Amino acid sequence: MNDNMNVNIEEMRKTLAAKAGENPVLLLISGGVDSTVTGALLLKTLKNEQVHLLYMDTGLMRKDETSYVKAVMQNLGAKNIHIVHCEDEFLAALTGVTDPEEKRRIIGDLFISIQEREVARLGLPAGYFLAQGTIYPDLTESGKGDGKAAFIKSHHNVASPLVAQKREEGRLIEPLQSLYKDDVRDLGKALGIDSAAINRHPFPGPGIAVRILGEVTKEKCDILREADAVFISELKSRGLYDKIWQAFPVLLPLRSVGLDSGGARKYGWVLALRAINSTDAVTANVYPFDMAVLLEISAKITGTVKEIGRVTYDISNKPPATIEWE
Ligand code: XMP
Repeated sequence: MNDNMNVNIEEMRKTLAAKAGENPVLLLISGGVDSTVTGALLLKTLKNEQVHLLYMDTGLMRKDETSYVKAVMQNLGAKNIHIVHCEDEFLAALTGVTDPEEKRRIIGDLFISIQEREVARLGLPAGYFLAQGTIYPDLTESGKGDGKAAFIKSHHNVASPLVAQKREEGRLIEPLQSLYKDDVRDLGKALGIDSAAINRHPFPGPGIAVRILGEVTKEKCDILREADAVFISELKSRGLYDKIWQAFPVLLPLRSVGLDSGGARKYGWVLALRAINSTDAVTANVYPFDMAVLLEISAKITGTVKEIGRVTYDISNKPPATIEWE
């Protein structure tokens, strides 16, 4: 164990084991650091058969996310991983919707209803425990109203009816609730989680739906996913990923004229790249790429994702801009 850690793992494991006993424990996982570390703690403390992980593939995730999440959890010893494929349901519900708050509301509501349906389908005995990766800032921020992260987390963490019910029954397990993000990362490392999974950039709960301005369609999700995969892999191969707090592309709701490789006119989508540094997401500074690097990344994206005709770089700090575009 790391002596510098603010976390007493043995104490956490003891408390968890005493609370859960032999009962099944269900954890909803998202691929984010908090739920991954919570999963690792459950798997390293309880019997692997006792731990049930539920993951919803909303179709709004990054490229190959579902198999990635599955592999990370299997490496930690997970036996019961329940993957719910609900892309069609999410895309159908988002058809024709362009207002960002409306998108968030639809996604949040659907998240909860599918979650309840799928949890019921698992048929766990009534005494099962629900675990979630709530961390200290989630608790202090929820209810304050305008923090978007708090708002969206609230729909699958703090305030869903399932959580409320389990809290009332005394069957809610929140092992990270007194920890800050850095402690969670230290704990994750000590529990043997792959460092790439621990050091992932933050990703919003409603997924790439908030990074597609205008209507969300399967075609646009696929374009954005491909562009994201190229951008992130370029950052990793250049050793820049870990120097940046958060980086992602945004698909704008417009196309502009350009030329295809044969010189004919084509209308390609416009993509904005965002890369920022921050400590707490409350303020953020644009990452100052070398121009040569940006040009190479842009060329790689337009060369790989043919539907994209033009790439721009967002040079606005927060404030006045936000980190995400919506
Ligand atoms: P903004 O765009 O408000 O983002 O500057 C601040 C941080 O919060 C993340 N973010 C979210 N995280 N659910 C989340 O879990 C969300 O709905 C959500 N919206 C924004 C954003 O990626 C950034 O790190």
